[in-house]
Amino acid sequence: IAVNVREQVAPIAPTMWGVFFEDINLGADGGIYAEMVKNRSFEFPKPFMGWKVVRQQPIEGDMELVNRPDNVNNPRYLRLKVSSSEAGSFGLINEGFRGMGVKKDLRYDFSVLYRVISGNVVLHVGLRDSLGNVLGENKLILPASNDQWQKGSVSFESAKRELKAQFFVWATGSGVVDIDMVSLFPADTWKNRPGGLRADMVQLLADMKPGFLRFPGGCIVEGYDLSQRYQWKNTVGPVEDRPLLINRWNFEFAHRPTPDYFQTFGLGFFEYFQLAEDIGASPLPILNCGMACQFNTGELVPVENLDPYIQDALDLIEFANGEVSTTWGKVRARMGHPAPFNLRMMGVGNENWGPQYIERLKVFTQAIKAKYPEITLVNSGGTDPSGERFDYLNQTLREMKADVIDEHYYRRPEWFLSNARRYDSYPRNGSKVFAGEYAAQSDKMVSTDNQNNWLTAMSEAAFMTGLERNSAVVQMAAYAPLFAHADGWQWRPDLIWVNNLDIFGTTDYYVQQLFSTNRGNYTVPISMAGEVMAGGDSLYATAAIDSEHQELIIKIVNTGATPQQKTFRLNGLAKANSSGTVQLLSNPEVSVQNSFDQPKRISPQTATVAVRNRQLPYTIAPYAFAVIRVKL
Ligand code: AHR
Repeated sequence: IAVNVREQVAPIAPTMWGVFFEDINLGADGGIYAEMVKNRSFEFPKPFMGWKVVRQQPIEGDMELVNRPDNVNNPRYLRLKVSSSEAGSFGLINEGFRGMGVKKDLRYDFSVLYRVISGNVVLHVGLRDSLGNVLGENKLILPASNDQWQKGSVSFESAKRELKAQFFVWATGSGVVDIDMVSLFPADTWKNRPGGLRADMVQLLADMKPGFLRFPGGCIVEGYDLSQRYQWKNTVGPVEDRPLLINRWNFEFAHRPTPDYFQTFGLGFFEYFQLAEDIGASPLPILNCGMACQFNTGELVPVENLDPYIQDALDLIEFANGEVSTTWGKVRARMGHPAPFNLRMMGVGNENWGPQYIERLKVFTQAIKAKYPEITLVNSGGTDPSGERFDYLNQTLREMKADVIDEHYYRRPEWFLSNARRYDSYPRNGSKVFAGEYAAQSDKMVSTDNQNNWLTAMSEAAFMTGLERNSAVVQMAAYAPLFAHADGWQWRPDLIWVNNLDIFGTTDYYVQQLFSTNRGNYTVPISMAGEVMAGGDSLYATAAIDSEHQELIIKIVNTGATPQQKTFRLNGLAKANSSGTVQLLSNPEVSVQNSFDQPKRISPQTATVAVRNRQLPYTIAPYAFAVIRVKL
């Protein structure tokens, strides 16, 4: 195998390997957004969904669900008419998203918006296990509030670990109080931010060192119909003012309807930008282009009525990058981030196809480029090489000189192996490609039987060598979907699985992580018997230079059942003898998976290698992906 370390082929964009985030599979609410209380504001269409009302006989008080027309974003609150002397006889129990994960000795922070109408009331709040044993609790004495809404808070620790705890609020005393935004967060959020994100989930993203963070989806951008599309302006500002929206994955789509799935937008656009910044990723928001999800209603906004949609896009750029004196820059600053978020790219539409998309895209592009020519626009493209729809679309987008075309592929592992040369023939000048969503499917697309196993991961790795080899064309790529909750998923396979307390990266995760943390700055040629390495001897390979660390990086995948004994000839290496490391993912059995019990069953194993006379002998194990780094 020949590698020429002196011949630069193409730069590898810093954005090359990134992360696709969507609130699917309880990714945000019930997932990375660490709020533990489901339906904290009683805004779900069924106002007590997630709650159990407790009123022991004889009735010790009364509850009224009130709707205030003056607060359109958060109309409902709960009025408690309290006449109770004993905690436990009058109040509410919340079940959490799929129970609540509670850690031993961790602090839990309760907060509530309240208004005392009359009398003296005490709230007793805490967590209990499935048998009703109290794990931790505290009291909040509600001082008179002159009829004004106030925020009250109190904390307590849990004495025990519990995967499926419940949260209780008992009211005692005599009086009338209104409550809203009944909330509970663990203290150990990412960067210990109050009301923040689940740290273990963010950590796995940070460990990938992703080049970009795409958000908020996915089909969620489009909505089942246009009224349910994602509107970023509803997701910024105080959390209590962010109106609830049904989650597009609440609906049945091929499998697993999830009727209690709503978006509170506690994870909103400010938090997405902040997350991107925290993990060193370039933010990539995707906006609705005036089209609802074509798998659902497919509603369209007439082209002449697109103005509000376009204004949302322009305002978003101002929100992210504008001076604090601008309207939207001021909103960002008030939320705690006066410095710009350095937004450089934006997507117009997700999986929108056909002439209707082109018509709308043209109007968006003209308006955005006129005001912000520096913003790179990502356009929605296709994948099916035999599908006319996609040929038409991709060709038209290229003729329109699209900056970046977003292609999605959820296909069988064989497709990934046979498409490792997919981009070899794409024109080098012109539109770039964003492999925006992909995942090898062990069964059919969106089948509930799909698994994240070593075969899916290895076939993605083989395909990704082709993406890297074609870094002149492909500038971004991301696996999708990202997160799934073991008890609340709608779609599989997924990159990272969680339950209420635990997390594991799939085999596919470690492939993504190895590519991203070994990106390199530019590709160099690698060939076997003069041929591109895209399946010969079951081997797939690419090579790059990390200029900062002055290292050659070879990524090689063996998809075959036999070991491949090879020698790399490292032409142009400054020193004849050198040393290096190998990070290896391999398993003789391709159906093997990581799991909560064996989270690292397949994860990188490190070894050293030696180069003598510019030659590196290396035997690539069967079913293996190796990243070899050699000092130049
Ligand atoms: O990743 C799951 C879904 O797949 C996305 O929401 C959508 O863009 C695609 O169809």
